[in-house]
Amino acid sequence: MAEHYDLLIRGGTCVLPWGEARADIGVTAGRITAIGAPASASAAESFDATGLYVLPGLIDPHVHLRDPGDAAIESIPTGTRAAVLGGFASVFDMPNTSPAITNAETLAWKQGYIPGHAFCDVGIYIGATRTNAGALAALERGAGVCAIKLFAGSTTGDLLVEDDAGIEAVMRAGTRRIAFHSEDEYRLQARRALFTKGDPYACHMEWRDEECAFLGTRRIMALARKTGRPAHIVHVSTAEEFDYLRDFRDVATAEVLVNHLTQIGPECYETLGGYAVMNPPIRGRRHYEAAWAAVRNGLVDTIGSDHAPHSRSAKERPWPDTAAGLTGVQTAVPIMLNHVNAGRLSLGRMVDLMAAGPARVYGATAKGRIAAGFDADFTIVDLKRCRTIENDWIVTPAGWTPFAGMQITGWPLATILRGTVVMREDEVLGPARGSLIRFT
Ligand code: NCD
Ligand code: ZN
Repeated sequence: MAEHYDLLIRGGTCVLPWGEARADIGVTAGRITAIGAPASASAAESFDATGLYVLPGLIDPHVHLRDPGDAAIESIPTGTRAAVLGGFASVFDMPNTSPAITNAETLAWKQGYIPGHAFCDVGIYIGATRTNAGALAALERGAGVCAIKLFAGSTTGDLLVEDDAGIEAVMRAGTRRIAFHSEDEYRLQARRALFTKGDPYACHMEWRDEECAFLGTRRIMALARKTGRPAHIVHVSTAEEFDYLRDFRDVATAEVLVNHLTQIGPECYETLGGYAVMNPPIRGRRHYEAAWAAVRNGLVDTIGSDHAPHSRSAKERPWPDTAAGLTGVQTAVPIMLNHVNAGRLSLGRMVDLMAAGPARVYGATAKGRIAAGFDADFTIVDLKRCRTIENDWIVTPAGWTPFAGMQITGWPLATILRGTVVMREDEVLGPARGSLIRFT
């Protein structure tokens, strides 16, 4: 009898872990059951991917969906709609909400809220505080928890553990890899006096300078070595850190942001004003080149968007009262595909950084690769599609993108989540089907 599947993705070029191949992919009960299904196979539903690339469902390991918080800016329903429209099948959501996700009660709320409200699959970060170290070992094993997040420098929200003793106490609680926002709080505070209200937005990269980030990363690496706790440094942004992290590959993994691979200071502050302000800052060309070198030499493990929406009024406040953070979950995949077309990285390396990398670093063992038995998550892309990013395409209620007007070649046409097409040609399909991601 001919083979039968729930879904067949036919005719596409698949980006497999071992290279690109033309293969029909069969899906049964939400999982991948054939790579290279025979032409005689039948299916309840088939997706014609002729002329298109079939990528594993891409994962954005760094989003701030602001839920609980202010739904007029962003929420889990709106932010995960933005994710699937932008080609992501999974996102890992940060804990600096209000209230923050730092204990069993807030975690239970989020675990219960995601099914029925999320349009893609979700991993949940637990925020480290000065007082919750004793609870973290249990919390990091909770359903859907991707990692503990520790903010060592102050940014949006009130999560902060800046001192060595506090960071070490968190590192000694639990065993899984911890994600770190690495900027040195003491240097940030000391440098604040060098600037005055109303200074140009470009002062953001002078205030939170290279040394703030590098000092933070040196301190975290020393503590990671001391405790043996694995660390993931999110949004690495300086040439100095990339260079330094080469010697810490036994304990450290690294993330780079789409923004730091796409925008350059001080020019971006002149064109975008407050809409270029984020932490750590967009920096000068030397750091941009270093980030690309780190993508090419394998030092970077994951790419994130650091999607961090704020209201227009908060972004337009005079510096330094400008809210830090930029939207990005809906634009990250198109922008990275554009970088692929510009020859800055291969499609295979993009998939390594945006699917396999996040799955490996955080332990989402059934995601991130097209492989037998894995979740049938796919991002279907047309590498030749040309389109301009516009503010009115953005579904995050905040309603803006720092990339408005950017001309893109390469676009995600469909997102498939555990065998169901959840986005096709700009349309989100069906109810909220997202669930909690399983981590080891
Ligand atoms: C983030 C936010 O607004 O939540 N802002 C930012 O500039 N990246 C917080 C953070 O990740 O630092
Ligand atoms: Zn951060």
